[in-house]
Amino acid sequence: MDLAALHELARKGADYSYSPYSHFRVGAALLCDDGTVFLGTNVENRSFGLTICAERSAIVAAASAGKRSFTALAISTPDSASPVGPCGACRQVISEFMEPDAPVRFGGSDGSLVDATVGSLVPFDSLHELASRLGEADR
Ligand code: THU
Repeated sequence: MDLAALHELARKGADYSYSPYSHFRVGAALLCDDGTVFLGTNVENRSFGLTICAERSAIVAAASAGKRSFTALAISTPDSASPVGPCGACRQVISEFMEPDAPVRFGGSDGSLVDATVGSLVPFDSLHELASRLGEADR
């Protein structure tokens, strides 16, 4: 599946948003290495700090179905004209499961898109740096 189709699915995910407090819908679509796609949406709570973002919802849904390897992520924020990137907490969780070169596309309602990578959103990521160092030690 290409990023355009994945982003359309992310927009669909935003339709499921539970956001009675912010009225800011977010949808995410996560592509697994076996071709399956998991949607996520933001799920708010009256105790605001318990809100779960769309990106983490998608990852938790996929991980709960036994998936561990994700190759692309798309995020849709239809209540914002311009694209909105993932928050810091989501970037950390994304980087747990996705390689630095994996594409992340985000876009709002005006049609403009940002094409980033996991590595550009989480530079100097200790998890992947550690993994590559361990890989070097193995050689
Ligand atoms: N939100 C997300 O779902 N993902 C992000 O990366 C940024 C923020 C949600 C949380 C909250 O429900 C609403 O957007 C407003 O912040």
